[in-house]
Amino acid sequence: MSEKTPKLRAALDGIPTYKPGRPAAADGPAAYKLSSNENPYPPLPGVLESAVSAAGSFNRYPDMACTGLMAELSEHFSVPVEHLATGTGSVGVAQQLIQSTAGPGDEVIYAWRSFEAYPIITQVSGASSVKVPLTSGEVHDLDAMLAAITDRTRLIFVCNPNNPTGTVVRRAELESFLDRVPSDVLVVLDEAYREFIRDPEVPDGIEIYRDRPNVCVLRTFSKAYGLAGLRVGFAVAHEPVAAALRKTAVPFGVSQLAQDAAVASLRSEAALLERVDSLVTERARVYEGLVGQGWTVPESQANFVWLRLGDRTTDFAAACERAGVVVRPFAGEGVRVTIGESAAMDLFLEAAEEFRKAL
Ligand SMILES: Cc1ncc(COP(=O)(O)O)c(C=O)c1O
Repeated sequence: MSEKTPKLRAALDGIPTYKPGRPAAADGPAAYKLSSNENPYPPLPGVLESAVSAAGSFNRYPDMACTGLMAELSEHFSVPVEHLATGTGSVGVAQQLIQSTAGPGDEVIYAWRSFEAYPIITQVSGASSVKVPLTSGEVHDLDAMLAAITDRTRLIFVCNPNNPTGTVVRRAELESFLDRVPSDVLVVLDEAYREFIRDPEVPDGIEIYRDRPNVCVLRTFSKAYGLAGLRVGFAVAHEPVAAALRKTAVPFGVSQLAQDAAVASLRSEAALLERVDSLVTERARVYEGLVGQGWTVPESQANFVWLRLGDRTTDFAAACERAGVVVRPFAGEGVRVTIGESAAMDLFLEAAEEFRKAL
């Protein structure tokens, strides 16, 4: 037998592996998973029924064009069907966007720290990441991002609100930024947490994209809509970009179950948004609780909060786990805590208070 192994692309060397938020251990003290920005509520009854009914056709491939979902999205967001593309979660669509725009020698700019999939999907494509540090207030430094643009820049991610800090970019600064980005560079507004925003100064990307052909908006059914396990997200973009997304899609990537559940979720939006409202109320309670305990917490417009703990990150996460909640540590930097059930947040606030007292 030959000693040789298959030749793999050098671009894959050293790719960081995506670290999913850890689940609560079945036999451990932690009962609540606050590590993946999931929605703690189960799917609404109509959603479950449509999924169960789709399950009866598992022997068939799904509708590859996602016709029903595209029509529903088109009506819901008042955008032409030709401006829509779906994918296996918005991270799948983000990967297709990079595949469509960047390869070896090209550059992808994003803030750092931000969504941890950006470096991975950029490196897989062979393009280089240009990471622009957040400001001291944990916000995108749009001026520095502009200064980082070169003639090799192909795509810029603006994660709004930013994962993991929850901070936002507001209308005036975003528009002024977009006015200055060259029109042949694609700007992706990643709005995975859009529904949790209550700051009226944060623009809706779908309004921004309308007269800007180089802007693409990413949305997902994983967070507010509570369908993380079904893997369905979508992009809104002008024709050439949306068409490129359809070319780079994995055929039949979005299951029929996901398509039908997403349609049912859009139709139950009022009920879903009520649940989002309670999470937003809970977010305010957690924020005020933490500030009251003396922590510095950036104001979050997403379904999580961020504590910059530096060297204490791992210890803090361990203390939370002993108290019954699994949070998401980024070693040496900080901890992201998803807003979940009130009982979970009570346990978290108690753990944070104890930890603070011991400092
Ligand atoms: C900013 C951001 N974008 C995209 C995603 C991907 O979500 P999904 O692939 O489930 O749609 C996430 C998930 O954590 C996220 O935080």
